[in-house]
Amino acid sequence: MLNFNFYNPTRILFGKGRLDSIDQMIPADAHVLITYGGGSAKKYGTLDKVKSVLGNRKVQEFGGIEPNPHYETLVKAAEIVRREGIDFLLAIGGGSVIDGTKFIALAASYSGEALDLLRYGFTPIGTDTVKTAIPIGTVLTLPATGSEMNCGGVISYEQGKYPVFSELVFPRFSVLDPALTYTLPKIQVANGVIDAFVHTTEQYITYPVDGRIQDRISEGILQTLIEIGETTIAEPENYDARANLVWSATLALNGLICAGVPQDWASHMIGHELTSLYGIDHGQTLAILLPSLLEIRREQKRAKLLQYAARVWNITEGSEDDRIHSAIQKTREFFERLGVRTRLSDYNIGEDQIPVIVGQLKAHGMTALSETQDLSLDISQKILENAL
Ligand code: NZQ
Ligand code: ZN
Repeated sequence: MLNFNFYNPTRILFGKGRLDSIDQMIPADAHVLITYGGGSAKKYGTLDKVKSVLGNRKVQEFGGIEPNPHYETLVKAAEIVRREGIDFLLAIGGGSVIDGTKFIALAASYSGEALDLLRYGFTPIGTDTVKTAIPIGTVLTLPATGSEMNCGGVISYEQGKYPVFSELVFPRFSVLDPALTYTLPKIQVANGVIDAFVHTTEQYITYPVDGRIQDRISEGILQTLIEIGETTIAEPENYDARANLVWSATLALNGLICAGVPQDWASHMIGHELTSLYGIDHGQTLAILLPSLLEIRREQKRAKLLQYAARVWNITEGSEDDRIHSAIQKTREFFERLGVRTRLSDYNIGEDQIPVIVGQLKAHGMTALSETQDLSLDISQKILENAL
């Protein structure tokens, strides 16, 4: 097992009817800015419920945070935070609203140009750059990203998606009420299952380091998603299936399963270019890229692919190559059964676009990806060609 630091201060308020607990989580004299997206929080009543729980606190609203939140929108909110003296941010939404709110919290407390904060990549922004950030709470309405219990976000600026990390923006608390997610369109639930699945594989299908607990938790998350994935899409109000999706998605990216093991993230980095260039949903980009990447990287990942085949899909018969092939095939079929297509051509992206995508990877410095940092632009190109 590799050395690691583990730190996660987010309090999780899980279950039915938990919105009331927000009252104890936010100081009575706080000046709160509620942030939300394109309107689902308003339309389905969550915004009103949260406002009534906040009672007599001074409350303002900032709606309109887009999916794949835009830098320009977020700096407007940061300006309001500064001008109005807001001292608590409460995000209602999915990954985009929560990520956007984290960026607002940092940008509002940063004395320089907020654009600087997009330059750090996977390196956490230190307290020498931003000393404090406005505290955040979240009400999760879309189980997928894990943003409700981690300190990262992904911000869109021009034609790129930029990761931003800072321990200052771990949410103080997150309300995870599965019933608040019943109104999601089926495709967003499918995206969420796939995002949680691929977060897990990014931290699990790498190379073995004898991280037994990490592996077994990862296998538990993957098996749970396979068990409940189709049910939670077909039966949105099946509480138990949805509750298991919500908790799987949170555990898949809260720092638990990556502690002490190698991490890949190449499907994510290539996927971000597909979202920036063609507007494909994050979860869908992963459904396209993961099966193709596993095929191209089967030698580097051989030992863990065999473990994945045996322990997640119960494939124990046949040659090693056959077992690996079947496991990748089953992964692709699972995504397709959830209603998400797994080929670039399904999204009208042809061979002529591959140089464009590779050019964007180069422009964004994505030239040495994966757990072994040897996934070059040539290999990204092969993964994309194999995904056509
Ligand atoms: O904007 P509204 O009107 O709220 O509608 C949203 C949005 O259109 C809708 N929605 C959310 N909750 C709903 C609902 N509709 C009906 N009922 C509800 N209860 O769903 C749509 C998609 O929302 P979004 O937040 O964009 O989806 P998701 O949670 O998948 O987040 C995707 C973003 O997270 C980033 C992605 O790159 C992308 O920008 N990620 C963040 C990560 C992190 N912070 O750790 C890791 C991930 O790998 C990912 O990169
Ligand atoms: Zn993701």
